[in-house]
Amino acid sequence: MTVDLLLGLQWGDEGKGKIVDVLTSSYDIIARFQGGPNAGHTLEFEGNKHVLHTIPSGIFHPKAVNLIGNGVVIDPVIFMQEIENLAPYNINFDEKLLISKKAHLILPTHRLLDAASEASKGKAKIGSTLKGIGPTYMDKTGRNGIRVGDIFASNWDEKFQKLTNKHLEILKNFDAIIEYNLEEMERVFLRSIDALRKFNMVDSEHYLHQAQKAGKKILAEGAQGSLLDVDFGTYPFVTSSTTTAAGACTGLGVAPNKIKDVFGIFKAYTTRVGSGPFPTELFDEDGETMGRVGNEFGATTGRSRRCGWLDLVALKYAIKINGVTQLMMMKGDVLSGFDKIKVCTAYQTKEGVQDYLPYDISTEDIQPLYEELDGWEEDLTQLNEVTQFPKNFLDYIDYLEKALETPIKIVSVGPDRAQTIYR
Ligand code: GDP
Ligand code: IMO
Ligand code: MG
Repeated sequence: MTVDLLLGLQWGDEGKGKIVDVLTSSYDIIARFQGGPNAGHTLEFEGNKHVLHTIPSGIFHPKAVNLIGNGVVIDPVIFMQEIENLAPYNINFDEKLLISKKAHLILPTHRLLDAASEASKGKAKIGSTLKGIGPTYMDKTGRNGIRVGDIFASNWDEKFQKLTNKHLEILKNFDAIIEYNLEEMERVFLRSIDALRKFNMVDSEHYLHQAQKAGKKILAEGAQGSLLDVDFGTYPFVTSSTTTAAGACTGLGVAPNKIKDVFGIFKAYTTRVGSGPFPTELFDEDGETMGRVGNEFGATTGRSRRCGWLDLVALKYAIKINGVTQLMMMKGDVLSGFDKIKVCTAYQTKEGVQDYLPYDISTEDIQPLYEELDGWEEDLTQLNEVTQFPKNFLDYIDYLEKALETPIKIVSVGPDRAQTIYR
């Protein structure tokens, strides 16, 4: 009768896809609640590596139903590419994939607006994934958007043209010149819309209410991370959706009192892709090592991810905002070989030492204050249980658990489904 949530506690790419895939065997339904193809969720199992953008990460399991919720924004072109990429797995999408009629559509011109907006900002750009996310959510809240359910309406063509024309007018207001071939973009888009019509569109909130009544187990899958939340993230360097726990209520129609566990997932260090403040960012050899060993390249854009030490100030904030009940720590294996492991426990600000996230963390006046723990040499990637962990790694986990006042229930020591250890 309850719903569990899984969401990222940092700036995204914590390993949500991997863990949703691991947990799916315990659930009947996996439901994505926000974001769109800005997400890149990587799964590895049995020698396969697969990146999902819009499709929930339970799709590889034989039984689970995967639902794309109303809070998600869908680019039909990217969605159909994802479907094609899944062809080798012989997935029965009729039975396993449902799309909310209320999910909003990303139009070709939303992508153009994203590009123009970014180009016109120059150095102050957000570092968006250029997938049209911001403009699509703007149209949603501005009450101009087009929803998936509209593609069946008799006036679909008219709606599409009307919004496209509006966007073309807005584009004229940007200083930046962007190159595009709209005719070609629209051709591919409309072909994808035709293909999209064949998928199962549902009133997903109703579907989920029925499922809850029937005692089905539901896992809500978040995208991005809490520090990219449009309200609580490092605004304006955020995405345009509610990435925190409340987003599952609005993005699926799940009532708050139906949510049981909130799984918060974090890396044993921190990464960020795109612009924006990152107090513990490293510009030295340590940061370079994290990026290299952790293979820190964006799953959607291929950009290098910025790396730094774990930031407990930010992590505690995310835990509170989300009501996290259990933590999952990813990529501890990447820290093997560091002599010392640093953890930011507070910020030195103009006002003094602060252990909560200030309004603006972008200023030079904020300096992270670190505690230092002893590192470990051992390779963790081949370990199967907690008893095999090196002492200093165990100490690191214990230290974090105490500081965060939340149990760390899963420790991931490699990208593969099998490299997952329960505590
Ligand atoms: P998501 O967006 O939260 O699903 O995460 P991404 O897939 O964008 O990025 C996480 C990356 O780390 C992917 O390449 C995963 O395969 C990889 N990964 C996940 N867990 C671990 C881990 O414990 N150790 C290592 N080394 N890699 C991991
Ligand atoms: P997953 O689900 C990491 C970042 C972008 C940019 C900002 C705004 O894989 O964790 P947008 O395209 O949303 O307008 O970009 O947010 N960003 C992500 N960073 N992981 C993601 O998703 C991200 N989705 C967006 O880099 O800084
Ligand atoms: Mg990702």
